[in-house]
Amino acid sequence: MNARGGGGKSGGPAGKGSGSAKGGKGTGSRDLGVRLKTAHRRSASSQRWLERQLNDPYVAQAKRDGYRSRAAYKLTEIDDKYKLLKPGQRIVDLGAAPGGWSQIAAKKLGRAKGQGAVAAIDLLEIEPIAGVDFIALDFMDESAPEKLKQMIGGPADGVLSEMAANTTGHKKTDHLRIIGLAEAAIEFAREVLAPGGFFLVKLFQGGDTVNLINDLKRDFSTVRHIKPAASRADSSELYVLATGFRGGER
Ligand SMILES: C[S@@+](CC[C@H](N)C(=O)[O-])C[C@H]1O[C@@H](n2cnc3c(N)ncnc32)[C@H](O)[C@@H]1O
Repeated sequence: MNARGGGGKSGGPAGKGSGSAKGGKGTGSRDLGVRLKTAHRRSASSQRWLERQLNDPYVAQAKRDGYRSRAAYKLTEIDDKYKLLKPGQRIVDLGAAPGGWSQIAAKKLGRAKGQGAVAAIDLLEIEPIAGVDFIALDFMDESAPEKLKQMIGGPADGVLSEMAANTTGHKKTDHLRIIGLAEAAIEFAREVLAPGGFFLVKLFQGGDTVNLINDLKRDFSTVRHIKPAASRADSSELYVLATGFRGGER
């Protein structure tokens, strides 16, 4: 099926005890400490978003550690547990802005010593990251897979995808867009991964997610659901990690 055409440091700020991949309660300090006066021009939802950012220990830690996003801790936590990223690998990062995952990948692959390769794509521009080859392009554009393959320069050891379209507020539309992006990412992973490679994707709980997971089980020897501690407990996001790509064996 062609899905195209639709739309650091180990441990989180809670320290070493926050390493559970199923946690969610590792950061006991998520109670709101800072409350903002409601500004006339700020909507209630942007008010809530801003308060959450200001009180999020992972946001503060990312700032201190020089990471572009709190998402860096989710990948770090998953990688600490499953040992995915290794020096010299070729990794593709889909939906990379602002760049937290690419930063972690570049570090773990040894890009500072010229080892490995990281190819990253996003709709949005990012500030350059040392050791990361980035392209600002819609991944759903039909030229995107070929461009990424050229950038990576050979079969990939891993494909990461945190791609998420802006929500419209219409639940069904949002879910279909997320699934469309995930399907395209899976299709790309099948084309670019070397046998034994891995695929890590962010999904949201909901109907079609089950079908996607079943699809992955045909191509990979192991498929796991992960809810990292750094993933907000009230978010329906979940990560699916597929390892042991079967390549042509399918
Ligand atoms: C949650 S953010 C990714 C965070 C990133 N992994 C990090 O560590 O900083 C999701 C990203 O997916 C991107 N995205 C959504 N749809 C996309 C598409 N069709 N092509 C490329 N990027 C897309 C968005 O622009 C957004 O930057």
